[in-house]
Amino acid sequence: MKPILILYASREGQTGRIAAYIGEKIRSHDFPATVLNADPISENFSLTPYAAAIIAASVHGGKHEREIVRFVKHYRDALQQMPTAFVSVSLSQAGVQDEKATSESRAKAAADVQRMIDDFLAETQWRPAIVRPVAGALMYSKYNFLLRMVMKRIARRAGASTDTSRDQVFTKWQDLDTVVENLLRLLPAPASAPYHPPMGEIA
Ligand SMILES: Cc1cc2nc3c(=O)[nH]c(=O)nc-3n(C[C@H](O)[C@H](O)[C@H](O)COP(=O)(O)O)c2cc1C
Repeated sequence: MKPILILYASREGQTGRIAAYIGEKIRSHDFPATVLNADPISENFSLTPYAAAIIAASVHGGKHEREIVRFVKHYRDALQQMPTAFVSVSLSQAGVQDEKATSESRAKAAADVQRMIDDFLAETQWRPAIVRPVAGALMYSKYNFLLRMVMKRIARRAGASTDTSRDQVFTKWQDLDTVVENLLRLLPAPASAPYHPPMGEIA
């Protein structure tokens, strides 16, 4: 059985954890999975050994990681020939799912998420079968002093926690379970074993 590729790009580590989780989930369904960081990816890399691909990228400054944009543009034709999913990781998606936020601010966050995904798909011209926005994290422990202050301001505006003494994870892991289940449904059924009729059925 060919493995399913999970290729990711991450700046502060959350998308790496998401990719590892997806890999484990796939294995729990008895399918092989290979988790790879897009930075760096070998020049001789090929998608031929894989049955399907899940590509995950986080958003910084309104854009998905550039190594994923590069990868998808380069391998687009091969990606179009296999079942694929795109997982977009952002803080805006945490705003979409924040039940304490006003409907106005959730709608604004949803529009931001959609715009960032639309920009990515327009730039790469890739048409994945599954597109799933996923909430990321505020990794205050990974930011330098200046970035911690900037992110604290962004978090305040987004209604997220401004307690910089600990990291805040917003990822809803069950969203990833759904991505895996939907992708596995797209895999071609294994060639069925040849039918050997029982003796009594032979005419
Ligand atoms: C400098 C910086 C800029 C960010 N810009 C955005 C942004 O424009 N929109 C957004 O929704 N999230 C933004 N985020 C939130 C990240 O997408 C979120 O922290 C995500 O979990 C990062 O994933 P990673 O740890 O895999 O890099 C930003 C985070 C940082 C640190």
